[in-house]
Amino acid sequence: MTSTATPSFPRRRESSDFEDMDTRLRGNDGAHSHVRGYDEQEAPSCLLRVSGLSHRFSTARDGRFAVQNASFSVAAGEVVAIVGESGSGKSTLLQCLAGRIQPSEGAVRYRDAQGEWLHVGTLSERQRRQLARTEWGYVEQHPADGLRMGVSAGANIGERLMGQGLRHYGQLRHTALDWMQRVELDVARVDDLPRAFSGGMRQRLQIARNLVTRPRLVLMDEPTSGLDVSVQAKLLDLIRLLVARMHLSALVVTHDLGVARLLAHRTLVMQGGRIVEQGLTDRVLDDPQHPYTQLLVSSVVAP
Ligand SMILES: Nc1ncnc2c1ncn2[C@@H]1O[C@H](COP(=O)(O)OP(=O)(O)O)[C@@H](O)[C@H]1O
Ligand SMILES: [Mg+2]
Repeated sequence: MTSTATPSFPRRRESSDFEDMDTRLRGNDGAHSHVRGYDEQEAPSCLLRVSGLSHRFSTARDGRFAVQNASFSVAAGEVVAIVGESGSGKSTLLQCLAGRIQPSEGAVRYRDAQGEWLHVGTLSERQRRQLARTEWGYVEQHPADGLRMGVSAGANIGERLMGQGLRHYGQLRHTALDWMQRVELDVARVDDLPRAFSGGMRQRLQIARNLVTRPRLVLMDEPTSGLDVSVQAKLLDLIRLLVARMHLSALVVTHDLGVARLLAHRTLVMQGGRIVEQGLTDRVLDDPQHPYTQLLVSSVVAP
């Protein structure tokens, strides 16, 4: 089945689940206060809570924070876009969420499959790696950073399963072929190295490699940038379909408001390391409150 051949599939899930969260972001006069602490936005099914997160690279010459005082939460099944211009701190924020960067200040808490709240910053490297290959996914902007370029496509998909203890060769191969089909890669190329694949195909492979273990939370850093527009559109369609079908929570970093519009229930807008506005995607893009968001929206050429 192709991702485009399912017209009955909703464009996005209805945002009603997340509406009360947005309502709580409104002040008494109905105007949006741009940013609030996570306590005020927390949904019952909250999966990730970020509170007062700041990060300054020790090498930052001007002493500026790459991320400053970021607070938000993500609910189960919710897709959140992080938008903003280059250098606004999006990738740094994502890496802090994944525990790859220890933030200078603030906390990231994740509720695991057992319902336990974990402090990402205090996990041991072993625990963090374990979560990273089971409950979390991380789709890198450049597929070469997220793939093992020296092993076959099939082995790339099978690796996380093996990390979970699956050793049966026939099962690994069967699952790898199944996932190649799901991301619309030619199964005849299961033994090819990723370097023989085009950029769009590599990105599909990276997505299969991440989703094969059915993670609960997937972080994606500009997953479609750098691809031709037509390849981008098909890949976005695929991501939208998989995320909705698997009821994944996802954070998608993008500088493209169209990507946020297509994929995300909620959108955070970053400028100079700060989240200057957050809310339901349609509200943020159709009725932007912060001058920077207004500028971003107005600078998109109408299709
Ligand atoms: N590894 C690093 N060392 C020092 N500074 C960094 C590093 N990575 C990013 N920065 C700086 O942090 C700021 C935010 O960068 P980044 O998170 O990559 O932004 P974005 O992903 O929005 O383009 C920028 O000023 C960038 O130069
Ligand atoms: Mg970036």
